[in-house]
Amino acid sequence: MNAMELIRRRRSVRTFDGQPLRQEDKEKILRFAETVETPYGLPIVWKLMSAKENGLSSPVIVGTDTWIAGKIKRQPHAEEAFGFAFEKLVLYAESLGIGTTWIAGTMNRPAFEKAMTLEADEVMPCVSPLGYPAEKMSIRETLMRKGVRADSRMDFSALFFDRRFDRPLPEDAPCRDALEMVRWAPSAVNKQPWRVVVDGRQAHFYEKKSKGYQDAAGWDLQKVDMGIALCHYACGLEGKVRLTVSDPGIPLPEDTVYIATMTAE
Ligand SMILES: Cc1cc2nc3c(=O)[nH]c(=O)nc-3n(C[C@H](O)[C@H](O)[C@H](O)COP(=O)(O)O)c2cc1C
Repeated sequence: MNAMELIRRRRSVRTFDGQPLRQEDKEKILRFAETVETPYGLPIVWKLMSAKENGLSSPVIVGTDTWIAGKIKRQPHAEEAFGFAFEKLVLYAESLGIGTTWIAGTMNRPAFEKAMTLEADEVMPCVSPLGYPAEKMSIRETLMRKGVRADSRMDFSALFFDRRFDRPLPEDAPCRDALEMVRWAPSAVNKQPWRVVVDGRQAHFYEKKSKGYQDAAGWDLQKVDMGIALCHYACGLEGKVRLTVSDPGIPLPEDTVYIATMTAE
């Protein structure tokens, strides 16, 4: 199955079937995580953890004991790099039939951070359960999905623009399929903060900021979403794309900031 099929098939899985994750699947996931690269070149430390052994829990996850988490040094672009790498891992898990859910909030964070031996200059943005999806979702999961309209996304015309923010991109643009992959990316509370201005082979990515996702130290969870969007765009172009950070100076709508440019090769 190619990356685009995996992107369309993936959904957050919060109800697992109770079977332990097979040893060979654990090994595959860890091996993949340790080789995953981001276009920012920032290293991430990964760990697979047992909930029982480490006192980990999440009120929204049932039916699996295995979790994966990553930590990264606090530094410019750490959020985007983490989002990019973790989403690659999520899609790889999907290819093995293993369910995941990005979790930044609904967990006992201190227990996870202790299990990750998090240092003061590091951050553990998100974690995910790993397991085999149950046939039926729990009632809580069904309600949660409804609450954030998890099965839908904003319209193409509200997200993607032609050289300027006041011109929606025609739906027959050459990079349409890759942008469609961006549109279906997962994001915190399904806010979909990505906006993209296309100019020839260049796609300029912007974050439309919502209130409450950036802390006093400047850490911004929606930049993790942006990393996921960049990952999906790269998947849509089969990796034949180069990332640069060089603001083209396009006039911006309110609460919108430049993140990166992807140039098709
Ligand atoms: C950065 C990030 C953080 C998230 N944090 C949580 C969380 O704390 N708890 C949760 O249940 N889901 C969390 N989610 C999952 C989103 O709610 C979910 O991806 C979104 O609603 C779209 O649904 P889908 O993943 O099924 O397509 C998070 C997703 C992302 C990308």
